[in-house]
Amino acid sequence: MEIIIEGPQELVGKDGRRYVLREFQIKDLNAVVSINRRVLPENYPEWFFVEHYMSYPKAFIVAEMDGEPVGYMMNRVEYGWSNIHKGKAAHKGHVVSIGVLPQARRIGIATNMMIRGMKAMKRFYGAEEVYLEVRVSNTPAISLYKKLGYSITGRIPRYYADGEDAYIMSRTLEDY
Ligand code: ACO
Ligand code: ZN
Repeated sequence: MEIIIEGPQELVGKDGRRYVLREFQIKDLNAVVSINRRVLPENYPEWFFVEHYMSYPKAFIVAEMDGEPVGYMMNRVEYGWSNIHKGKAAHKGHVVSIGVLPQARRIGIATNMMIRGMKAMKRFYGAEEVYLEVRVSNTPAISLYKKLGYSITGRIPRYYADGEDAYIMSRTLEDY
């Protein structure tokens, strides 16, 4: 099904379970903060989520199952050196954080949140390309991004607090 970029959209997961993709709302704050704490070591204060919501509301996506958030994707758009066209500046979508609770994984939720988030960053905020950082050991996430057409465009030594390196992965949004 075509992923839409405004309003709630009901989708059917690969296992037949239904879920809804929609924009983040302030009432989701506690749920999203707790998903982030459960699934990732990179945790942020509440104001950081609120700030992304206030600046890029159409690109802050929540996945809901049985009326409860089970996943989120938080984004922003920056202006700086392109990761794709070396020596040029570009509006770059930045996937700041994405996570899905274990019980809702492998049915396509992250894939569809990524598609919606990327479309929203292009359509509403002018992103021409998109990038993210990911732990070099995070095979599930790296495979997700590769399937979505990202490639590794850089590596940042000791990016994470525990000393692990990050890959920078990027893709153009020309085809989006
Ligand atoms: N092992 C291998 N490949 C995987 C795995 C896995 N455990 N999980 C997902 N993938 C790949 C597969 O190619 C999969 O397609 P397939 O199921 O047809 O084989 C593809 O990704 C799409 O999977 P989805 O079902 O769309 O992904 P899901 O909803 O399960 O969420 C996610 C993936 C977000 C990585 C989830 O595992 C998670 O929350 N992990 C912990 C948090 C995390 O690592 N977030 C990313 C950090 S980087 C950042 O935020 C920018
Ligand atoms: Zn980042």
